Amino acid sequence: MRVLVVGGGGREHAICWKLAQSSKISKLYCAPGNAGIADVAECVPVGAEDIDGICAWASDNNIDLAVIGPEVPLAMGIVDRLNEAGVKTFGPNAKCAQLEASKSFTKAFLARHNIPTAGYREFTDKEELLANVGIYGYPMVLKADGLAAGKGVVIPEDEESAVAAIEEMMGDKVFGNAADKIVVEEFLTGVEASMLCFVDHNTIVPMESAQDYKRIYDGDKGPNTGGMGTYSPSLLFDEDIEKQIREQILLPTLRGFQEDGLDFQGVLFIGLMLSEDGPKVIEFNNRFGDPETQSVLRRMESDLLDVFTAVVDNRLNEIEIKWIDDRAVTVVLASGGYPGSYAKGKVITGLDKVDDDIVVFHAGTKFDEEGRIVTSGGRVLGVTATGATHDEARAKAYANAERIEFEGAYMRKDIGLINR
Ligand code: AMP
Ligand code: GLY
Repeated sequence: MRVLVVGGGGREHAICWKLAQSSKISKLYCAPGNAGIADVAECVPVGAEDIDGICAWASDNNIDLAVIGPEVPLAMGIVDRLNEAGVKTFGPNAKCAQLEASKSFTKAFLARHNIPTAGYREFTDKEELLANVGIYGYPMVLKADGLAAGKGVVIPEDEESAVAAIEEMMGDKVFGNAADKIVVEEFLTGVEASMLCFVDHNTIVPMESAQDYKRIYDGDKGPNTGGMGTYSPSLLFDEDIEKQIREQILLPTLRGFQEDGLDFQGVLFIGLMLSEDGPKVIEFNNRFGDPETQSVLRRMESDLLDVFTAVVDNRLNEIEIKWIDDRAVTVVLASGGYPGSYAKGKVITGLDKVDDDIVVFHAGTKFDEEGRIVTSGGRVLGVTATGATHDEARAKAYANAERIEFEGAYMRKDIGLINR
């Protein structure tokens, strides 16, 4: 098969790395890819959000299966367009992609199907929202309805900062039109975990669980990022929690999709709060998580292509997905300054110094004119180690991450140490 992966971050590197192990793939492409992906796939210079470009390239190059990594092209309807062009595609259509592209859509879905989540209200009028500031007390959870590159959730601690945040979101439009509607939620307490699931029209199958570290600094301090590290499986899960998630969240979600005519095919990423009164849904994303995917796919034993083709053919119930017992830990090396502004083009050294069983997934890298690998994003690399125990994997991830250098490199030191 000829397969095209769309995207160019750590998630897409993990997907390509895993697909490249399949004997059924004759040619693997990635658009646009990055310097690490170039090791396992042929990179195609078409941007992930250039829907016309991707569709034309996929048709011209007889692609048998396209796999979409990021949320923005999904929300733009890339799956519908590729299907129209006769290209089978792994990922949800535009209608289903609203589950990530609109918080309000998802909250209504969860409420309609009695799936545990925070209570909420939504506002489109700034004055009305200001008149209701602190309706659930503080901290106040404010969510831009639309896509805002993972930054659209603001959680002010008091009334003064809540008013300022509302002014920025609705008055100054810091998230553009994404905050024309704001969802206000009850503040949930507990520990968060990520659950990625394969979904087709008949079946939902959770992957191994994962823990993500969203804040930039140790101790879960500082601003949110795309994710500074991850481990799998989550040490917070046990059979009881898994059963509750299955019965109260996964099965009602699948039934809800069927009742609402949401023909979901792809990955449903469920952000969970493991609260005192059970697991609750914080959010849905409709794609693999990043960096969760790096730890999770590192532990997949089955052929990922078999899973993708089963999903697009609605045969997910016919296959068994196997995982290795080893634990995985991924430590992200980020550019100094991220998630604020940061420099690019810093030469990366030491990539050849890592041990043989370590996989360094590239998130923000490219080749410079001299053919050197340089930084090109906020999150640069995801150093992924496995081990018979969680602590062994963690020690290996850090020992190897220390060998890689670039100017301004930053990593958290407590990935896999806290939230376990
Ligand atoms: P989201 O973009 O929806 O994942 O939200 C980003 C982060 O905000 C989450 O990972 C949580 O840490 C936090 N968050 C979102 N909703 C809530 C909530 N209702 N209660 C507490 N924290 C929340
Ligand atoms: N790591 C969180 C996300 O992919 O949205």
